Amino acid sequence: MTSTPPVSLVTGSARGLGLAVARALLRRGDRVHVVWRSSRALVANLEREFEGRVHQADLEDPAAAHALVERVTATDGRLDHLVHAVGEYVSGPLEGARAADLRRMLASNVETAFHVFDAARPALRRARGDAVFFGCAGLDTLRARRETALYTAAKNALFVLARSWALEEAPHGVRVNLVSPGVVPHEHAAADTLDAERLARIPLGRAGTPDDVAHAVLFLASPAAAHVTGVDLAVTGGWLL
Ligand SMILES: NC(=O)c1ccc[n+]([C@@H]2O[C@H](COP(=O)([O-])OP(=O)(O)OC[C@H]3O[C@@H](n4cnc5c(N)ncnc54)[C@H](OP(=O)(O)O)[C@@H]3O)[C@@H](O)[C@H]2O)c1
Repeated sequence: MTSTPPVSLVTGSARGLGLAVARALLRRGDRVHVVWRSSRALVANLEREFEGRVHQADLEDPAAAHALVERVTATDGRLDHLVHAVGEYVSGPLEGARAADLRRMLASNVETAFHVFDAARPALRRARGDAVFFGCAGLDTLRARRETALYTAAKNALFVLARSWALEEAPHGVRVNLVSPGVVPHEHAAADTLDAERLARIPLGRAGTPDDVAHAVLFLASPAAAHVTGVDLAVTGGWLL
């Protein structure tokens, strides 16, 4: 146990699921650092809520990821929880898809994670902390996708990285997990999170909420999950089971 509140870094936190996670960690008492890339219009609100712990970084740039973690540790002296909620999305069949779209998915969903974990690793080891990355529904079954093959291929690559980090970091006391939301509409989410046909196929009968996802992250980033590493915690209402 630390005598001061834990320090959490939540990327992709200007809006959507990352912001819900950051707010939940703040309510729990953590010192929470948030990160935006291009959502300048949302920064004033962030400053009000996370005063002095708001950062801009494009995490496709490894130097920016390292500078970000340095700013966090310079401010608060440690890093206990890393939550990486970055990850762009494209949909459509593979026929007609461009290699540039595949590269975009890999850069946004996989490379950013690689850079931020690389930057955070030493601080997480010192704190015996944990990291949570964002997957998507159905990763464990490696299923074919009609509309989301590029995006899901990138998330599956991230899943393998996260499990491998879990294995490699376990001797250092660092836990690494994935949370996989299903269909979670929010103000800035992709339009297909409102697709009625998709929503009708969710066994628990409703879309997820950002708070559903935040609760799962709170668990993974807590002592209650002290013996949990390398898992993909699906928060999908049973979608794609
Ligand atoms: N919503 C869903 O239904 C759903 C379902 C399954 C999985 N997920 C996953 O959950 C995570 C969060 O989803 P969301 O719906 O909250 O997404 P979102 O609304 O698109 O928010 C993601 C945030 O990531 C930031 N970001 C993107 N690229 C970045 C980069 N290179 N460097 C730094 N920040 C970057 C963006 O910041 P700026 O706005 O400042 O550019 C954006 O605000 C993603 O990984 C997504 O794939 C979401």
